[in-house]
Amino acid sequence: MNTTETIFSIEHAAIRFGPGALEEVGEEAKALSLTRVLLVTDPQVRRLPPFDTVQASLRRAGIEAVVFEQTAVEPTDLAMLEAARAAVEAKVDGFISLGGGSVMDTAKAANLFSTWPADFIAYVAAPLGEARPVPGPLKPHIACPTTFGTGAENTGIAIFDVTAAKVKTGIVSRRIRPTLGILDPTTLAHLPARVVAANGFDVLSHAIESHSARPFTARPRPASPALRPLTQGANPYSAIACLEAIRLTVRHLVPAVVDNDPEARRQLMFAGLLAGVGFGNSGCHLPHAMSYPVAKLVRAFRPEEWGGGKALVPHGMAVAVNAPAALRWLARAVPDRFRPVAAALGIADPQRHPGDAIAAALLSLMRQTGIPFNLTQLGFGEGDVAALASGALEQKRLIDNFPSELSRGDMEAIFRESLFQGL
Ligand SMILES: [Fe+2]
Repeated sequence: MNTTETIFSIEHAAIRFGPGALEEVGEEAKALSLTRVLLVTDPQVRRLPPFDTVQASLRRAGIEAVVFEQTAVEPTDLAMLEAARAAVEAKVDGFISLGGGSVMDTAKAANLFSTWPADFIAYVAAPLGEARPVPGPLKPHIACPTTFGTGAENTGIAIFDVTAAKVKTGIVSRRIRPTLGILDPTTLAHLPARVVAANGFDVLSHAIESHSARPFTARPRPASPALRPLTQGANPYSAIACLEAIRLTVRHLVPAVVDNDPEARRQLMFAGLLAGVGFGNSGCHLPHAMSYPVAKLVRAFRPEEWGGGKALVPHGMAVAVNAPAALRWLARAVPDRFRPVAAALGIADPQRHPGDAIAAALLSLMRQTGIPFNLTQLGFGEGDVAALASGALEQKRLIDNFPSELSRGDMEAIFRESLFQGL
């Protein structure tokens, strides 16, 4: 069949949202017939009150929990296989993840490889991997974020570094989507201000990118429903969720960061959920494609809130830093796609130059929330531009979702603009 697509899908995990939701995780696990789970977390989260809440709730429900806490920020393929081995050894019948995106993604991969063992590269997205379809359903996975905005509780995507190839890629399959997401805003009370700021920008970018992605109608209709891509492009449902996510984030980001306002943080968590459903069904594009080489090639940026030891650029910052130039560039090519985004950002006259106005609004929010607003502040220089552009051009899954074509020269020009913007 060679007609254009006329059908879009809406898929997401079942969700519980609200203060106190984490206390119910044991009952929820019991309802899924779980008896013995791998509780995937990391060493920081293990020391925080939400971990005790989960353990107590599981104990009350009579569910055994085997703790796996060797999850790293920016997990590797090897770390994920380690978690899968732990699941096999512990003979678990389900998974509970408690932590940020890395923890939830590690649990997805552990579930996949312990249920349907294969060489790691088998399920990895092309061109690096074989993109083999997952053969059948996985075990139940309850994802409990202790941050907000990654959308990982809702997506069929797990992101990681492939150690041998030194590249960041992912596994994309609706089979790895968690069964249930439990979003309890009280877990956000402990988040440092800059973490809230970085994650807030991740939410904003998920929403803007998913809303402005290449429309689902631009793809050919697949020969069978099973071949319909998970990230299908902008669609009527993601449009509604994403515009509301943008409005909520713009309203609540500064009080959530500057005043640690619990209501503002709750609203940001909800915005993250909306944007997560949006990008889980639509998909991101340019700012996310540009974020991966920034995260990979960093040499000199060591933010204290993320440990201060290893040089790293947190995901939300890596996305935010290129977003103003990237969106300005795309909005020049397809301004109509960005006018609703500009309106949702509160821009008074979105009809005129939406790209310039969107870039200015983002830069203003970055200054107000104290996160880096150009690549120079992250330690990059002109000599990095070619390698950054090459890294972004490797992100085929995201490039397929660009709302307009970009050449290598365009990509380098956008990185160059991002070096000094806002100065
Ligand atoms: Fe993201």
